[in-house]
Amino acid sequence: MNDSAQILDGLATSQALISTVRGAIEAHVAAGGRRPGLAVVLVGNDPASSIYVRAKRQDCEKAGILARDFDLPAETSEAELLELIDQLNEDPNVDGILVQLPLPKHIEETSVTNRIAWRKDVDGFHAFNVGKLALRQPGLRPCTPRGVMSLLTHHGIKVKGRHAVVVGASNIVGRPMTLELLLQGATVTTSHRFTSDLESLVRQSDILISAIGKRGIIQSEWIPQGCIVVDVGINRGEDGKIAGDIVFESAAQRANWISPVPGGVGPMTRATLMQNTAEAAGLEIDFP
Ligand code: GUN
Repeated sequence: MNDSAQILDGLATSQALISTVRGAIEAHVAAGGRRPGLAVVLVGNDPASSIYVRAKRQDCEKAGILARDFDLPAETSEAELLELIDQLNEDPNVDGILVQLPLPKHIEETSVTNRIAWRKDVDGFHAFNVGKLALRQPGLRPCTPRGVMSLLTHHGIKVKGRHAVVVGASNIVGRPMTLELLLQGATVTTSHRFTSDLESLVRQSDILISAIGKRGIIQSEWIPQGCIVVDVGINRGEDGKIAGDIVFESAAQRANWISPVPGGVGPMTRATLMQNTAEAAGLEIDFP
């Protein structure tokens, strides 16, 4: 029935989103508006975080956003980081504040995410913004789940009335992903480490979102024919290559749509950060 799935092309979609953001920003600046600014804060030198942050800074350039870099040593105290956030909260040239996670162990993440002014919380991690999403009053929304929704919409996929299974319940992806799908009228099941029968849930999914961060937990033969598969996982294999949670080739034989890794959700997360920053600066971004 299914030769091979169609690709949810995150690279092309993210480029379209960034160029929409850029268009809105250049029009705003041409009309005398201030160019939006994003403070990008990196504490320590976790190699993966350094790579992500570099890519986010490059995306700012593409989107016409001024990136302000704050690279702090790993020994930075929580008080010092909070002091920087207080300054950035007050800075009229900073529209968005991004503190890359994870933070060094001696810094409590929730103290940091909740210290960022909610109007500048372009990651959407502040309790206020998560609460707004839960209450169907979305404000600034976490980038990965919002990016997944844009990726689906851009490819003409509707979630209303369908059974979405979200695998993983993290604050950054799984939980807000559940809220986004619920907001759009999906019936959502969220699985996590205490879920006893993942296989039977996956077998009942119309839409499967994997945000585990481990390869091969979901077996391709569990995936129903015609499923829409979104792979949020980023795993580095023994061969040094990046791969998702799901084995792409075998899953693509069953799915109708599937997002690749790399080139799926990752670029959508970063493009959505640009969208959120422009929106935090008061611009309206019409996408998709
Ligand atoms: N670490 C992994 N994903 C993210 C993200 O979306 N935002 C931030 N700030 N840190 C992350």
